[in-house]
Amino acid sequence: SFDEAALGRILARHPARQAALLPILHDVVATFRYVPAEAVPLIATHINCTRAEVHGVVTFYEDFRERPPGRHVLRLCRAEACQAMGGDALALQAERLAGCPLGETRADGKLSLEAVFCLGLCAVAPSAMLDGKLYGRLDPATLKLMIGEVLT
Ligand code: FES
Repeated sequence: SFDEAALGRILARHPARQAALLPILHDVVATFRYVPAEAVPLIATHINCTRAEVHGVVTFYEDFRERPPGRHVLRLCRAEACQAMGGDALALQAERLAGCPLGETRADGKLSLEAVFCLGLCAVAPSAMLDGKLYGRLDPATLKLMIGEVLT
């Protein structure tokens, strides 16, 4: 059930210009936690561009999800520095403990796993982000605790 009125209030706050697209999308995610497919054509009309253009921006930025996330979101860095420090093993462990692959949400909606490509913490790789909080020097024991906590 898409709340079109809520989207209308967001659009009313922003000028009908293409430059408003990113601020609009940030507000949409703040309200809905993701960018509902139903919102895309309405946003496109408001700023006078095509659906494809809006969709392109949504898919380009990893902050803009196209599906509702789980209650908790664990993002694992899959870029080079973190891979070199054992990131592959951590990713496998996370998938096993979470019970869903990277890019997916558990069936019970408690946790989403996401791959990110560099969190700016290469110096303390491997790194991750749980619900917006950054973790460096991640090890299997800490990862197990983190996932255990959000699943209880
Ligand atoms: Fe993982 Fe930079 S490569 S934080």
